[in-house]
Amino acid sequence: MPIIAVAGRKGGIGKSTIAGNLAAELAELGWRVAALDADPQHSLTAWAMQGDGLLSRTVEKVKDGDPGALRAKVRLLDKTADLIVIDTPPGMPGTTFHAALLADLMLLPCGASPLDLFALKDSLALALRARAQRRSKKPRIRLVPSRVPANTNLGRGLSESLEKLGKKVLPPIGQRIAVAEAVATGLTLLEFAPHSPARAEFTELARAVDRLLRR
Ligand SMILES: Nc1ncnc2c1ncn2[C@@H]1O[C@H](COP(=O)(O)OP(=O)(O)OP(=O)(O)O)[C@@H](O)[C@H]1O
Ligand SMILES: [Mg+2]
Repeated sequence: MPIIAVAGRKGGIGKSTIAGNLAAELAELGWRVAALDADPQHSLTAWAMQGDGLLSRTVEKVKDGDPGALRAKVRLLDKTADLIVIDTPPGMPGTTFHAALLADLMLLPCGASPLDLFALKDSLALALRARAQRRSKKPRIRLVPSRVPANTNLGRGLSESLEKLGKKVLPPIGQRIAVAEAVATGLTLLEFAPHSPARAEFTELARAVDRLLRR
């Protein structure tokens, strides 16, 4: 069963937003998805509990982001899910490292600010340390341009700057009002605004992830 971890040291870069919407889009592509909220802030759970949509049936809390509890949840889900998305906390390298030890694919969202890029390098190093410990090419690592501002030089240059880090870059997610509005209703974009440009970006991202997982 493939496991995807969405991670990054920096707060507020869109990890939970990507984890929730990606879980929904991958479910739409036919996966039986479970989303594990391994962040003690439990933003993903709070989002899910705002409504009675797909996330309310998909998200499970991991107590305190505890690594043992995370492993136990993953084992339990083996019978009922065929894909797990783990949302990880900012600034808790212990929890994130354990997620990296479990994950087949690690998605590292990054915003357009130079400070975001700086934090991304730490997250990349953490993922590589997990690979070294596993003596494996897993987790595969992909960068995701996130909260990309429209019509700005910073936004336009983000994918290029990320490519220079030597890791593959997935389709970007723009900074868009609909993304935050969906959270307020407890829904993912595919439920809240299925024909919106914001939703289309998450569909593109999910298709790229789906291709990777099936390869
Ligand atoms: N693409 C986007 N467009 C508009 N708003 C966004 C987008 N992505 C995230 N946001 C908003 O930015 C805030 C932070 O997003 P989110 O909670 O997904 O980040 P995070 O990396 O999970 O944060 P934390 O590190 O605190 O867990 C939220 O209010 C969210 O609604
Ligand atoms: Mg979060």
